[in-house]
Amino acid sequence: MRDIVPHPAPPSDTHCTPEQYDVMYRRSIEQPDAFWLEQAECLDWSRKPAKGGEWSFDPPQIAWFADGRLNLCHNAVDRHLPSRGDAKAFLFEPDDPSTPTRSLTYRELHAEVVRMANALKTLGVRKGDRVTIYMPMIVEGAVAMLACSRIGAVHSVVFGGFSPESIAGRIMDCESRFVITADEGLRGGKAVPLKANVDAALDLPGVAVDGVLVIPHTGADVPMRAGLDHWYADLASDADCPCEDMAAEDPLFILYTSGSTGKPKGVLHTTGGYAVWAAATFRYTFDYQPGEVFWCSADIGWVTGHTYVTYGPLLNGGTSLIFEGVPNYPDHGRFWQVIARHEVAIFYTAPTAIRALMREGSRWVTPHARSSLRLLGTVGEPINPEAWRWYHDVVGEGRCPVVDTWWQTETGGHMITTLPYAHDMKPGSAGRPFFGVEPLLVDAEGTPVTGDGEIEGNLCIARSWPGQARTVHGDHARFTEAYFSTFPGKYFTGDGARRDADGYWWITGRVDDVINVSGHRMGTAEVESALVLHPKVAEAAVVGYPHDIKGQGIYCYITLMEGNEGSDDLAAELRQWVRKEIGPIATPDHLHFTDGLPKTRSGKIMRRILRKIAENDYGALGDTSTLADPTLVDRLIEGRQND
Ligand code: WT7
Repeated sequence: MRDIVPHPAPPSDTHCTPEQYDVMYRRSIEQPDAFWLEQAECLDWSRKPAKGGEWSFDPPQIAWFADGRLNLCHNAVDRHLPSRGDAKAFLFEPDDPSTPTRSLTYRELHAEVVRMANALKTLGVRKGDRVTIYMPMIVEGAVAMLACSRIGAVHSVVFGGFSPESIAGRIMDCESRFVITADEGLRGGKAVPLKANVDAALDLPGVAVDGVLVIPHTGADVPMRAGLDHWYADLASDADCPCEDMAAEDPLFILYTSGSTGKPKGVLHTTGGYAVWAAATFRYTFDYQPGEVFWCSADIGWVTGHTYVTYGPLLNGGTSLIFEGVPNYPDHGRFWQVIARHEVAIFYTAPTAIRALMREGSRWVTPHARSSLRLLGTVGEPINPEAWRWYHDVVGEGRCPVVDTWWQTETGGHMITTLPYAHDMKPGSAGRPFFGVEPLLVDAEGTPVTGDGEIEGNLCIARSWPGQARTVHGDHARFTEAYFSTFPGKYFTGDGARRDADGYWWITGRVDDVINVSGHRMGTAEVESALVLHPKVAEAAVVGYPHDIKGQGIYCYITLMEGNEGSDDLAAELRQWVRKEIGPIATPDHLHFTDGLPKTRSGKIMRRILRKIAENDYGALGDTSTLADPTLVDRLIEGRQND
């Protein structure tokens, strides 16, 4: 029997009781336009929309609230000034706990966003221009996003852990002519050379921008190139800077994410639908109440940081904590120390962090007061019941509901999630669909799997929702191919899932060539491309394998060019190489040198076999008779066992 943890009794001011969920969910499916137009009323529109969703999945063409007009920065910041100008918008906790914390009221945030927006205008940024943001986790990162949305520029945030090569690829792909960065970032006591990485990216062939805005953070002495690099203070001004009036379907941001093939895709989100989705999911999933401190530990370089560090909290007039550091610096109690220090009510993090901290023991948690905590959330990968239990029982003292939120870069916000006071919790299950979300399981042929009992299959979404990505920047054909071609007429998530007889959804993991490393999506093709750039590497095949802390680790099979031998030194060199090409999050966990890769006679690599061997599961290798060289399998197994 599976574990069920009952939800706490709904507080009187809850946004959604169990009865309300059933009524609202049914209405969101039966009358989606009426439902979402009503939800849209939580925002200020310069022109109220009369249209709801106008969409098709075959071919994909998606619009929501298309006749509406609004500005997202106005809704996140300016709108709150009369009612809560002195309320805190952001709290900041620095990497080093002995250096000063910071906080910004909505009024102060407004002033800062106006200054940054003016600086961008002076730099030459105009409505519709793409702006690359490569920042540490400091308040100015969120301010940069808001400044872009204020003037109608499209931000493309690149995670501060990515390499110069990765920055360059993203700048070129979206033809961004402007970069916002900082002198340096700080993580776990170490400086991250952000400005130097931008310089290196701009030195690569084919990369050129018109201006780089540099925010001083550590005060490091960074070289500035005349005519290109500008200190923030030199361009910032307090002049009036009205919000640009935008159409609901004007682009808001591009965010790159990995897929099963090729380079990362620039997923594009637009203004109105994303805003409604961010606002509604934040309010209902976290049952957010005014005055509460909300902390999402994700970096703004990921979609989680976009929707739940910046936009979701501010659209609700909430207080969002920005944390610069890492969970284990200066010690393993840091998360809990931050929660006590800032009286965090809602904490949202990834299972990988929970597992890593659980391993260090509860003694790091219990000395810190957690009485402010009311609710806990997880995101990014399935959470194993053991980690869920520890999070719920030890961190949440057994009294805080845990919401497990399943969603993707492409979905803009939560799609399947427990609602804290409406749904009982099943550790390991993401719960039920959010309003307007119609999940659907299909088999390998695309036939819907139905039935009242437990069913399993490929997870698709049957209809559009306001927060859905509209396209892949500059490549609508790739959007169609990646999400709407495997199962025509449906949005295919790339995940497998099971729905139990109670209507709870259990995500079983990716079914494509994407792996989930510490809650971050990594395309095996990307790691392979990086590896084969090395002069000694002939071929590479990368698969995921179970990893205690990261969820999945990166396992690389490598064949070498004639005359080279695999060695520990070469393995270390290749690890370093991939870090340099992509970034530390892509560092291979395991390198396996082999004299060949298992291929069919037509030359297709049989990844199923490679996955099984990486998992140390040799019993079910399936049919290997179609391999060009069937004897290779035994050598691969031997190689795995000798590690
Ligand atoms: C993939 C999306 C959504 C923000 C973070 C990752 C996996 C995400 C869960 C969850 C099981 C999850 C899926 C999904 N995933 N949340 N609660 N339970 N799996 O965003 O990089 O776009 O990755 O992360 O495999 O497809 P992303």
